[in-house]
Amino acid sequence: MSEAITETEFYGESLLLYDSVLIELSSRINIIRKANMLRSGRDPIENVKTRIKSPESMMNKLRLKGLEPIAESIPGNVTDAAGMRVICTYIDDVYSVASILASQKDITVLETKDYIKNPKPSGYRSYHMIVELPIYIGDACRRVCAEIQLRTLSMDFWASLEHQIRYKHDIPNRKMIGAELKRCADEVASVEMNFITIRDMINSIKNNSTGGEEQTAQTAPPDKE
Ligand code: GTP
Ligand code: MG
Repeated sequence: MSEAITETEFYGESLLLYDSVLIELSSRINIIRKANMLRSGRDPIENVKTRIKSPESMMNKLRLKGLEPIAESIPGNVTDAAGMRVICTYIDDVYSVASILASQKDITVLETKDYIKNPKPSGYRSYHMIVELPIYIGDACRRVCAEIQLRTLSMDFWASLEHQIRYKHDIPNRKMIGAELKRCADEVASVEMNFITIRDMINSIKNNSTGGEEQTAQTAPPDKE
């Protein structure tokens, strides 16, 4: 059996670019979180994961595309060497975080796939963006691609579960499990819409009571001096 090739052996100097684009995107996500916390007191993001595609998986992908399985084949052909997964609290947080990133002048959105509005036949839901942004290494600037997957906690839970059976070969009842997963995906999607309705109801109650207090404060007679 041949020994696995390491990330450094496979990616060589380009590993720094893929590492750096993930650092850059993580920092932008952190700023979005902090700005949101300051503005609304709520963090729209639950957690963020990043990964560099494993050499083995990248080599397979390049071979499938009929390319030589080397790091030099990646630019212009594969856009997900660097990947980030952003887990949001609510569905509308997914869209607002995506639109903030897309609005940043130096980020070019090369592609979006909205599997929330149009779920995959399996039931998979997520919002995918392929972005390109400038990375400065010393005085040199290179534009580097990354794949960002934005989803909610329940979409993430579902995808992890489905991923486990997708890559297992010895599963009996695969068809039945697949159908059951699809049913769960539909149910989760509907429950998530209910969460938003409940959140909005709670917010409007909160706003009304704050509004009421403010009004009382404004209409109260001024303190005697
Ligand atoms: P690849 O990049 O080669 O996968 O093809 P693509 O660009 O057409 O893929 P797409 O953007 O649809 O999906 C990219 C990634 O999303 C995958 O590598 C997975 O991480 C995730 N994904 C897509 N579809 C599914 C699915 O049905 N189930 C799960 N669990 N993950 C999925
Ligand atoms: Mg892809």
